[in-house]
Amino acid sequence: MTTERIFGRPIVTQEQMRTRIRELGRQITSDYDGRDLILVGILKGAYAFYADLARAIRIPLRVDFLVVTSYAGKAKSSGKVKMVTDLTEDIAGRDVLLVEDIVDSGLTVQFLINTLEKRKPKSIKVCALLSKPTRRSKHVTIDYVGFEIPDQYVVGYGLDYQQKYRNLPYLAVLDKVDDAEQSG
Ligand code: IMP
Ligand code: MG
Repeated sequence: MTTERIFGRPIVTQEQMRTRIRELGRQITSDYDGRDLILVGILKGAYAFYADLARAIRIPLRVDFLVVTSYAGKAKSSGKVKMVTDLTEDIAGRDVLLVEDIVDSGLTVQFLINTLEKRKPKSIKVCALLSKPTRRSKHVTIDYVGFEIPDQYVVGYGLDYQQKYRNLPYLAVLDKVDDAEQSG
């Protein structure tokens, strides 16, 4: 069976994504002009968005990554977030922009902001490709959002279902999720 048959219609097309990422890049370029920007990708989910976003930002910046697992096991937002791989760069005094695939409950972003703030960055902001505002249980400010989507489980463009489908080149709704084992 092809992925197209499994997932059906894309929720965000490659063309819509390209256009929106160019806009985000322009906005971030102007907001961070002259500053010491470190772009922090939250892996694994953000890898595709990160690569495109970084190249749409036209100022010299540092790249870095951390790996988190949300929801070990089956639970949804009640699970704990764990940083399994830390940054390699020092963020003290720098302007940190966290790059996330999707903000759902807000737990991951809230945990990372709390953790990274202890290292005294000059600022921390968040850029997420997707946001599901109706699912939010933690109050977090998402400074840059690509698309707000309804409460549907999506895969592709970095986002997984049980660690697969991250390489799908567009975002598609996954029809059946039996309390998905969500991850990074
Ligand atoms: P939060 O901590 O509840 O905000 O969840 C954030 C993480 O859950 C994201 O970084 C994703 O890895 C995962 N996630 C949430 N919703 C989806 C989805 O619809 N598809 C794939 N992963 C998701
Ligand atoms: Mg993620």
